[in-house]
Amino acid sequence: MSKRYTITAALPYTNGPIHIGHMAGVYVPSDIYARYLRLKGKDVLFICGSDEHGVAISMKAKKEGITPKEVIDKYHSIIKDSFDAFGISFDYYGRTSSEVHHQTAQEFFKIMHNNDCFETQTTEQLYDAQEDQFLADRYVVGTCPKCQNPEAYGDQCESCGSSLNATDLIDPKSALSGETPSLKTTTHWYLPLNRYEDFLRKWILEEHQSDWKPNVLGQVKSWLDDGLKPRAVTRDLSWGIPVPVAGGENKVLYVWFDAPIGYISATKEWALQEGKDWKPYWQDKETELVHFIGKDNIVFHCVIFPSVLKAMGTYVLPTNVPANEFLNLEGQKLSTSKNWAVWLHEYLEDFPEKQDVLRYVLTANAPETKDNDFTWHDFQTRNNSELVAIFGNFVNRVMVLMKKYYEGVVPNPSALTVEDNATLEALKESPNIISTLLEQYKFRAASQEMMQLARIGNKYLAEEEPWKLIKTAPERVATIMHTAIQVVAGLAILCEPFMPKTANTLRNMLNLGNLVGWNDVGNKALISGGHVLGKTALLFEKIEDDAIAAQLEKLKA
Ligand code: 2FM
Ligand code: ZN
Repeated sequence: MSKRYTITAALPYTNGPIHIGHMAGVYVPSDIYARYLRLKGKDVLFICGSDEHGVAISMKAKKEGITPKEVIDKYHSIIKDSFDAFGISFDYYGRTSSEVHHQTAQEFFKIMHNNDCFETQTTEQLYDAQEDQFLADRYVVGTCPKCQNPEAYGDQCESCGSSLNATDLIDPKSALSGETPSLKTTTHWYLPLNRYEDFLRKWILEEHQSDWKPNVLGQVKSWLDDGLKPRAVTRDLSWGIPVPVAGGENKVLYVWFDAPIGYISATKEWALQEGKDWKPYWQDKETELVHFIGKDNIVFHCVIFPSVLKAMGTYVLPTNVPANEFLNLEGQKLSTSKNWAVWLHEYLEDFPEKQDVLRYVLTANAPETKDNDFTWHDFQTRNNSELVAIFGNFVNRVMVLMKKYYEGVVPNPSALTVEDNATLEALKESPNIISTLLEQYKFRAASQEMMQLARIGNKYLAEEEPWKLIKTAPERVATIMHTAIQVVAGLAILCEPFMPKTANTLRNMLNLGNLVGWNDVGNKALISGGHVLGKTALLFEKIEDDAIAAQLEKLKA
């Protein structure tokens, strides 16, 4: 049994707000997992923060005519507010511009440098003479040598997912001036990934063959089969963390060297704040480290960062990296530049109380094994036919009848029928089924099991028809209602990872308190006879066609 869980969610770049693709791929599943483990009573540390270095930030600053610091401050708060509004329950949300992070990343570099974990190479790199700037990563655009996409970046082709070096691009152009770059000599530190090939092959492809997702294993295998090459971990840029060794003047750490270390820096800041020790969360063998990321981050979290952790010697390696595929929107790839996205801060303006609806829809349709499509029509259907018609309807009917028949005081049951027992048995099984799925990172299926319990409750009530029996068989109605309220209480607990706001409202409606948790569902009466229920509130409401039409219009505009 693991002692503790360190759960990380990819640090978003602070060069723009967050959209539904980020939520579906990383932040909703990681939050479901963290909330679930907390409900099981585990020691959980859920870490995220802003990724504030790299060319993406400098380019945005240049485009907007402001400083990189102004860019990161602006988007750090927009992004953080969105996460808070959607109930993403990070224990700590850091920033890679923090002092602690700069020191931590520099310390990693110095230790690795002193232990001969790097090689230096002097090579010719792309250079924009007009801008007096070396061109790496997103500063250079050209044709991908693997798939011929004409808009590949100097670090990655977003079309085929290949990770590239700027000099690999065919017909490169400076993203700053549009000019064809020249070549200029420069010296950099490289992480010789080739030294880690055997370790990575054995650790991931052999030891984790059966418990890591096929899409992750597939990418790792393809990287290893291609042969790993040394990869530069420094850049000739001014925005970033200064290289802390002799010869590093005017150079900074490569953003993908410092960013994942941000998980560790954020843990240090959290520990300082909470008066705890950060080390066990990263260095104790009984810690499970789980990285939630999108598929474009696989190489960094499964090849490069583990090689750094291995080189450092004292760190645990991830237990799993359950990377998701991409979410499309109305059949097209989400695109920030084309504004083809549903931005969270805008969604909240249009649907201020519907955070859980989006969380549920993104989970029910999560891109877990393949790219998936978000459509507004599906959003409406999931809301109206599942959240309103099944979940909300069941809860509401039970609450209304409880008030009507018993003034909100839960009645005592008498002898149980086969139907009552079958319903209670389904309730008992539900947490086990959901747990198993969540522990396998099958969040879609887990959300559907949760909905299935609501469906069972709804069906039970419809078939038992207490409203037809209240005059003639009040004792039987008391048993039915006692049984039904157990299912409602079970839902209040089991829905929390998926829909935390709803769970909270439900707990208040039921006056449930915090004494019952995940492990109690099905193992004892969650609500006893004589318990006084709270006030009924509306959980979900129908979304009309015009609201959906307005969203589609907005997209087209
Ligand atoms: O792809 C991205 O948005 C990166 N900012 C993710 C970084 S994850 C971690 F390593 F910091
Ligand atoms: Zn490509």
